[in-house]
Amino acid sequence: MQIEAVSTQPFEGQRPGTSGLRKKVTVFQQPHYLENFVQSVFDSIGDFAGHALVVGGDGRYFNREAIQTILKMAAANGFSKVLVGQGGILSTPAASCVIRKYGAYGGLILSASHNPAGPDDDFGIKYNIGNGGPAPEGVTEAIFTRTQKIEFYNIIECDDVDVDQIGNFELAGMQVAVIDPVSDYAELMQSLFDFDAIRALLSGNSLSDDFSMAFDAMHAVTGPYAKAIIEGLLGAPDGTVMNGEPKEDFGGGHPDPNLTYAHELVDLLYGDNAPDFGAASDGDGDRNMILGNHFFVTPSDSLAVLAANATLVPGYSAGIAGVARSMPTSAAVDRVATSMGLDCYETPTGWKFFGNLMDADRVTLCGEESFGTGSNHVREKDGLWAVLFWLNILAVRKESVEAILLDHWQKFGRNYYSRHDYEGVDSAAAANVLQNVRDQFGTLPGTELAGRTVASCDDFAYTDPVDGSVSENQGVRILFEDGSRIIFRLSGTGTSGATIRLYLESYEADSRQHGMDAQDALADMIASANDVSQLQALTGRDKPTVIT
Ligand code: G1P
Ligand code: ZN
Repeated sequence: MQIEAVSTQPFEGQRPGTSGLRKKVTVFQQPHYLENFVQSVFDSIGDFAGHALVVGGDGRYFNREAIQTILKMAAANGFSKVLVGQGGILSTPAASCVIRKYGAYGGLILSASHNPAGPDDDFGIKYNIGNGGPAPEGVTEAIFTRTQKIEFYNIIECDDVDVDQIGNFELAGMQVAVIDPVSDYAELMQSLFDFDAIRALLSGNSLSDDFSMAFDAMHAVTGPYAKAIIEGLLGAPDGTVMNGEPKEDFGGGHPDPNLTYAHELVDLLYGDNAPDFGAASDGDGDRNMILGNHFFVTPSDSLAVLAANATLVPGYSAGIAGVARSMPTSAAVDRVATSMGLDCYETPTGWKFFGNLMDADRVTLCGEESFGTGSNHVREKDGLWAVLFWLNILAVRKESVEAILLDHWQKFGRNYYSRHDYEGVDSAAAANVLQNVRDQFGTLPGTELAGRTVASCDDFAYTDPVDGSVSENQGVRILFEDGSRIIFRLSGTGTSGATIRLYLESYEADSRQHGMDAQDALADMIASANDVSQLQALTGRDKPTVIT
C-alpha cells in the first residue's frame, strides 16, 4: 500500500466553533475538504508516532465515508493504532471514555450533535485530546491556522476497510481495532451507579408498585447504549427506549432533547397515565432532558439537584470537589455550592472549558443550560450518565421528580430561567443587536429595568485559573442588583446565518411564588431585554424560534 502525498489548497472557514467544525454535508463532500481538516489536525497536535487514535461518530449521513478517509490518513500519518467503534459508531461520551481508558493520544469525533442529518443537512468533526475532552482553544486555533496554509495531505491508497466486524486487522502497518461501541461505556456506568437499586426501582419494588419510565433516543446514537443499559442491564421492559434504532438522517427529526423537539416524549409525559420519569438524549448522546410526570426539570436545576444529592450515588459518595457551570447557565448550582462549602466556577459556553478544571481536581460536576450535564468520569457532557444519576437518586429518595424539585426550591430558592433562540437571522443584524446593548454599557448601570436596578454590564471574559489562558467576548451581560441577569450571545455551532441566544434569569426566594410558569415569571425581563436591545426590530422577527 502506497502512502500518497496529495496536493491541495486551503479552504476558507475551517475554524472550529463551540464544538468542532460543523458544516453542511455538501461542504464536507467537496474534494479534499475533510482531508484538509484532518491533516491540519494531525499537523497541529504534536508527536503521536507510536500512539493510538480513537475514531467514531454519531452515525449520521457521511459518517461512514469520513471514517474510511480518517483511517487511511491515520495510517499514512504514522499512528500506530486506531480504535474505531463498530460500524463507525461512538457516542461522544463513549468516545471520551475510550480515549481515557486506553490511553489514546486523542480522538476524532464525527458529529454535528443535535443538528439535523442527511445529504442536505449537517456534518461535523472535532478533535479531542488525551484527557478525553475537546481540544482547548490553543489547539483549535493552531488547527485553524494550519488549514489556511495546507499544501498537501497524506493518505493510503487502498480499498475501503470493514469496520462492521469486531476484531483487529492491519492497515499499512497500523493496527485497527474495531471495538464494541457500548461495552466500555456500560462498564464505566456500572462503576458509578447502584445498578441493583435502579433495577429494583424499574421492576416496581421501590418508588411505587408501578414505577415506569420512557427514554427517547430520537433515532440517534444513544439507542444502542440505552437499550443495552436500561433495558438490558437494568431490566426495564422492552419498549422503554423509544426511537432506539439509529438512522443516518435521524428519522428526519431534530434530535435535540428539549420541549420543542422531543415532543413525542413530552406528549407522553404530559398525557394520561404518564410515566413517572422521562428522558431523552441528542444526536451524539451528550445532551439530556429530564422530565417527571407532567413536570419539566430545567438543565440548570438538574445540575443543582445532582450536586445537592451527589453523595447518595456510589461514584460520588465520598463527596465532590467542586462544581462548574457555563456563564449563561442559571446560578441555581451556585447556591448549592455555597451551602455545601464547594468552589463554583463560571466558564464560557462550551464543554472545552471544563476540562482543565476537572484535570486539576477542582470540580467533579459541571453543566450547561443547553441540556448538558456531566462529571469527571469522562471529559464530555454525558446524556445517559445524567439519566442514570437521576434514576439512582429516585431509587434512593423514593420520591417523585416533582417532589424532589419542590423540596430543592424550598431549601435553595428558585432561579426562574429561560433561553430564547432567534435562529437563522441575518449575521449583520445579529451583530447590531449585541452592539446596540454594548453601546449602552455606560448608561444602563443604576437605571431600572423590569422593576430591578441594573448593577453592571459587561462582555464576559474568562481567565482559566489553571493555565491562565484568556477567552474574551463570551456574551453581553446586563447584571442586576438582585442577581437577575439578561444575557445576549451569538451561537458558535450553527451552519447558516446567525443565531441569537437571549438568556433570562430571575431569582425567587419565596416558596409561595415557586409554582409559576417560567415564561410568566420572566415576562417583564423578556420585555425589557427586547426594549434595550431592539432585538425584534433589528432582526425583523416577532418571536423566538425556540424557547427552552
Ligand atoms: C451550543 C450550546 C452550548 C453547547 C454547544 C455544544 O453552543 O449553547 O452550551 O456547549 O452547543 O453542544 P452555541 O450554539 O450556543 O455556541
Ligand atoms: Zn450533542
